Amino acid sequence: MASAIETLVKQAMKTFGDRRLCQKNFDKLKNLINNITTEDIKLDKRVLDYVSKQPAPMCVMDIFENENLTIVIFILKHGVKMPMHDHPGMHGLLKVISGMVELSSYSLKTKGDHVIKANEEITAVRHRPVSLHSNSSVCIFTPMEKNLHEILCVEGPAAFLDILSPPYDVDEFGKGERPCTFFKIVKSNLCTESTDIIEEVQLSVVESPPDFYSSSLEYTGPPLKDHYN
Ligand SMILES: [Fe+2]
Repeated sequence: MASAIETLVKQAMKTFGDRRLCQKNFDKLKNLINNITTEDIKLDKRVLDYVSKQPAPMCVMDIFENENLTIVIFILKHGVKMPMHDHPGMHGLLKVISGMVELSSYSLKTKGDHVIKANEEITAVRHRPVSLHSNSSVCIFTPMEKNLHEILCVEGPAAFLDILSPPYDVDEFGKGERPCTFFKIVKSNLCTESTDIIEEVQLSVVESPPDFYSSSLEYTGPPLKDHYN
């Protein structure tokens, strides 16, 4: 029988192998990721203890990547904040499997080129932060909706599984590379949109924060070799 992680990878390939997202496939993928646990990828206490002791604020475990998608586990140390960043032109699923994080998401208001240039300021809407732990449902983002986020580890180490499509840097439709860009808030305004009060923020690009770096961890869960071909 296929392992849970193998089934997840297969479903992710099916969902994102097609340029047009099929809702039925996407819903199946959401169901599968909601049921993934630390045991499914052999992320035990020893690994979490190691993350706490090593110097990097974050550890990254690559699980799977092809031209359409990437599946990664991020493990943040207690108190660490993954700075605000984007996922240009990408869809994503984020599922916490251990510890607890506070996720603050932002939706882009500025349309146009999906890669933001260094001197550009963009407008976004800030969503209310959500606390996520292993029983929380997966969070979804799209090229416009909740595409930017910052993630604070409030109970650590906290591990979350990310499925991103397409992967960073893949040149999609000849639009050029899509790097990960970091941002800071330069202005914040409360305004009314229909009957809701929303927070609109101006964001400017910042250099990749020097104190935020990662070290990589080897994936030691069930083998996924067959899917690479
Ligand atoms: Fe992210």
